[in-house]
Amino acid sequence: MDWASEMSEISRCIKGVKTQAELEQMENAIFKIVEVQPLKKNVSSISAPQFALDISKLHKSLYRYTGGLDQFDGRDGLEAFEKGSRLNIRAEPGKFAKNVLHNIKSHASSYGSLDNKCLHPQKVCVEFSSPNIAKPFHVGHLRSTIIGNVIANMLKATGHSVQRINFVGDWGTQFGLLSLGLVRYANLDNLKTDPLLELFSIYVKINQDVKSECGKASEMTSQTYQEGLELFAKLENGDEAMKVLWKMVNDLSLAELDKMYQRLGVYFTHTMAESLCHKKTIAVLDCLKDAGLLQYDNNGVGYVQMDGEETIGRASVVKSDGSSLYLTRDVASALERQELFSLDRMHYVVDQGQRGHFIKLLHILQKLNVPWASKQIDDVHIRFGRVKGMSTRQGNVVFLRDVLDEARSRVIDSMKGRSTTRVTHSWEEIGDIIGVACIILQDLKHNRASDYTFSWERTLNMKADSGIFVQYCHARLCSMFSGCGISLTEEVDVQSIQNDVSIQNIILHMARYPDVFSLALINLEPHHIVQYLFKLCHLINTAYYSCPVKGQNIDVAQARLLVFECSRQVLANCMKILGLIPLERI
Ligand code: ARG
Repeated sequence: MDWASEMSEISRCIKGVKTQAELEQMENAIFKIVEVQPLKKNVSSISAPQFALDISKLHKSLYRYTGGLDQFDGRDGLEAFEKGSRLNIRAEPGKFAKNVLHNIKSHASSYGSLDNKCLHPQKVCVEFSSPNIAKPFHVGHLRSTIIGNVIANMLKATGHSVQRINFVGDWGTQFGLLSLGLVRYANLDNLKTDPLLELFSIYVKINQDVKSECGKASEMTSQTYQEGLELFAKLENGDEAMKVLWKMVNDLSLAELDKMYQRLGVYFTHTMAESLCHKKTIAVLDCLKDAGLLQYDNNGVGYVQMDGEETIGRASVVKSDGSSLYLTRDVASALERQELFSLDRMHYVVDQGQRGHFIKLLHILQKLNVPWASKQIDDVHIRFGRVKGMSTRQGNVVFLRDVLDEARSRVIDSMKGRSTTRVTHSWEEIGDIIGVACIILQDLKHNRASDYTFSWERTLNMKADSGIFVQYCHARLCSMFSGCGISLTEEVDVQSIQNDVSIQNIILHMARYPDVFSLALINLEPHHIVQYLFKLCHLINTAYYSCPVKGQNIDVAQARLLVFECSRQVLANCMKILGLIPLERI
């Protein structure tokens, strides 16, 4: 029996299907339940191969044996143990190690995800990034891009059919203002050489005009703002000149964004535009009317009345002049996606400042009987907190490109200072890959709902818990294999490493990966994998010095090498799911 099926036996025991005594009598058991103890007891005092499983984690791991996310309610059968108990399980050292290593070798790049394969694949859409083209790409969009990418990767790796959508904000009042700004301030040369920077400077200038005209009063009182509104209305009514301008800004911005996505290693299956949803306004309004949901106030503004627990009054869906709103365009896009992909699940990876918007959206879609809209708001709006203090050498306004460039140049500076550094690619390429890894991991290491403060020092810390630290660890393992002069035979005797504590710790930690993956998948929380990854690197680094491969007798050398090879595999699997490219040589 392999250890995964045995875990399943343990779960049956917990569910009362098997008694503990029965389990203990199981032939060839790898695990033995040692005791049930209060959760508070210090876990770190229990060392490998005896280890503790938190019941709550165990019940998450049960999910793997009970089918898909939707079928397992998580409470079944746990009454047998007091809430908050911890189940201590002892592993038979040799068998346990053999099984874990065998599992990793045979699952290879799917170790972690294979155990989490869904029984009932679903059609899922993950919408992420979704910047606005007439406003700067801000750090919230960067978070959405990084987090959404991992969520889409995890769902795909576990067998779901995933649509990766970028919903580009290319419509709305801000576009009218930007067009006016282009007329007033555009420098064509700058627009050609650095379109995003020029568009941003125009955006700043035109907004300054509005501010200086209206002072503390509403922006509606500003002449510039009114002119911007008029221009946007022209665009909405199909004015040819405005359409040309709009297309130019759109093309320039999208081309620039594509370059950023390439550097980040992120791709989309569909780029959808808010502007196209605008064209469906009438159809959406008809739909709402047919469902008896559309009402009008005295000013001619169309709205849907919200009810239920999270009452937030009215949700406006159409302006008095008949033009669409952000919410209307989202309803249109949701209906379109439903038609195109018949979705079972929908995830919007958007900052938590937009919570109110998504509550309204979900409410309307529920009333329109969109199947996935019956889910909880937390399952649909995958929210994340704010980033404070991100600035670059260029100043306080953050451009994604500057952040990536700066990460690259800082990485190159610090690597050039290290005498051991050996590069096979160009400095630029390596610097970019590592810089991107640093930016991705510094973000993903936080629980997504929490705000955090950005720091370059932490982002690029060579010694611990950063992208560069992880990349070095991976590359070091690769060079260990090529430099040790030993090749692995089919049968490796793992008994010889039973007393290598740091090696045993790696094995134990690797055994947990499928459960950690499951935790990240269920909660759509990449930080579980990141924290796991950092710990794995620390364990590897410790074992690297205390349990060398070179100069040992052949049994020990082979067994240690096998563990290091498996740990490299797990490390690479974590990195890839997080959107990183594992480097073999640095
Ligand atoms: N473009 C929007 C913004 O930057 C985010 C879009 C989020 N997605 C959505 N379906 N509303 O604020």
